[in-house]
Amino acid sequence: MNRPPLLACALLTIVIMANSLVAQAAERLPRGNAAKPDVLYHNYCSVCHGDRGDGNSRAKNSLVPPPKDFTRAPELTRDTMITIITHGKPGTAMSAWKTQLSEKEIVALADYIRATFMRVSLDPKLQRGRVVYAQNCMVCHGERGQGAAAGAGLIPARDFTTPQARNELTRDRMLNAVTNGRPNTAMAAFANRLPGADIEAVVDYIRTGLMLPTASGISGTNAHAGRDGKSVAEGMNLAFSNGLKGDPVKGEKMYMANCATCHGTKGDGKGPRAYFINPKPRNFIDKNFRLAFNRPAIYTAVHDGRLGAEMPAWSKVLSDQEITDVSEFVFRRFVQQGKNSQ
Ligand code: HEC
Ligand code: HEC
Ligand code: HEC
Repeated sequence: MNRPPLLACALLTIVIMANSLVAQAAERLPRGNAAKPDVLYHNYCSVCHGDRGDGNSRAKNSLVPPPKDFTRAPELTRDTMITIITHGKPGTAMSAWKTQLSEKEIVALADYIRATFMRVSLDPKLQRGRVVYAQNCMVCHGERGQGAAAGAGLIPARDFTTPQARNELTRDRMLNAVTNGRPNTAMAAFANRLPGADIEAVVDYIRTGLMLPTASGISGTNAHAGRDGKSVAEGMNLAFSNGLKGDPVKGEKMYMANCATCHGTKGDGKGPRAYFINPKPRNFIDKNFRLAFNRPAIYTAVHDGRLGAEMPAWSKVLSDQEITDVSEFVFRRFVQQGKNSQ
C-alpha cells in the first residue's frame, strides 16, 4: 500500500464511525424477547466451541487457533468475554456478534458459559474433583464420563452423560456408590482409598462437569452429542428463526441474478466483480464458512449486510420471503453441497 498515511487514517476513522452507527442502529431495531442463553449457545456457538464448551467440535481440526476450551480457561474474565463476543477476536475464526445479538443476550451468554462450562476451573474444590476423577475413575468411566465398553459378561461403567443418568443419580446415591461400591460390579468401594473430602469433590465434579443438562428448547437429548458430531448436525439443521420456509428453486434464480456477480456461480467468491472488491466476497464452499453458517446465520448475514465490506443489506431491496429463499439456496447448494437436508 502506498496511500498517504493521513488518508488511511481518515478512511479508518470512517470505517470505525460507520461500524458504531451500525451497532447503534442494531440497538434501535425492534427485537422480540431476548432468546435464552442456552438456546443461543447451542444455535450459534456450539458448532465451534462444542456442546460441552470444551472446544470439541467438528470445527476444531480445521481452525487455527482452535475454538476456546472454556472448561480450561480460568484466566478468562467476564469482561474479556463480553468484549470478545461483541467485537470478535482478530486473526481467529471468532467473529463479532454485535449485529446478530443484543447487548443483553451477549452478557447472558457470557454468564451462561461461565456458570455452565467454566465452573469447574473457577472452583478449587471442583478442580480437585477433576484430578481425583482422572486418577481413579476415568479408566472405566471415560474421559468425559461417557463410560467405556465393558468386557463380555461385565456390567459396563456408568455413562454419566445420558439424561437417564441425570434423572437417576442423586448426589446422595452417587456418594453412597463411591463410598461403598456397587456389589457384583467392577465399581469398587473407595472408602479406604480416598478421604471423604475427595469423594465429595469427585462426585460434585461429575455432577457439574460431566452431567450437563440438556439446553431448554433444544429438541432431543443431544447435550452430550458433541463427541459424535450429532449436535453439530442438529445445529446445522435449524430452521429459519422467522418461521418462513425457503424455496431453493426461486432462491437459485435470485442468487444468479443478485449474488453470483460477487460470490460466483459456484459460491467460491470468485464472481466477475470480486476482483475489484476488498475485502473479497465470502467463499461459501470454504470449510470454515460451511461449519459456521446455518440457515439463521446466512439469513442474518444477507438481511443485514456487512458494513465496511461491499456486502449490501438486502433487507432494503428483497422481501423477507425472498431473503429466506436465497438463503435456503446458499445453504443447500454450498453449505450442504447438495446433500439432501430438511
Ligand atoms: C466459527 C467458529 C466459532 C464460532 C461460531 C464461535 N466462536 Fe468463539 N472463538 C472461536 C475461536 C477460534 C476463538 C479463539 C480462540 C483463541 O484465541 O485461542 C474463539 C474465542 C472466543 C472467546 C474468547 C476466548 C479467548 O481466548 O479470549 C469467547 C468468550 C468466545 N469465543 C465466545 C463465543 C460465543 C459466545 C459464541 C457464540 C455466540 C462463539 N464464541 C462462536 C471460534 C468460534
Ligand atoms: C474398574 C472400573 C471402575 C472404576 C475405576 C470406577 N467405576 Fe464407577 N462404576 C463402574 C461400573 C461397572 C458401574 C456400574 C455399576 C452398576 O450398574 O451398578 C459404576 C457405577 C458408578 C456410579 C453409579 C452408581 C449407581 O448408583 O448407579 C457412580 C456414581 C460411579 N460409578 C462413580 C465412580 C467414581 C467417582 C469413581 C472414581 C473415584 C469410579 N466410579 C471408578 C466401574 C468403575
Ligand atoms: C457487490 C458484491 C456482493 C454482492 C452483490 C453480494 N455480496 Fe455477499 N458478500 C460480499 C462481501 C464483500 C462479503 C464480506 C466478506 C467478509 O466480510 O470477509 C460478503 C459476505 C456475505 C456473506 C457472509 C457474511 C459474513 O458474515 O461473512 C453471505 C452469507 C453473503 N455475503 C450472501 C450474499 C447473498 C445471498 C447475496 C445476494 C442476495 C450477496 N451476498 C451479494 C459481497 C457481495
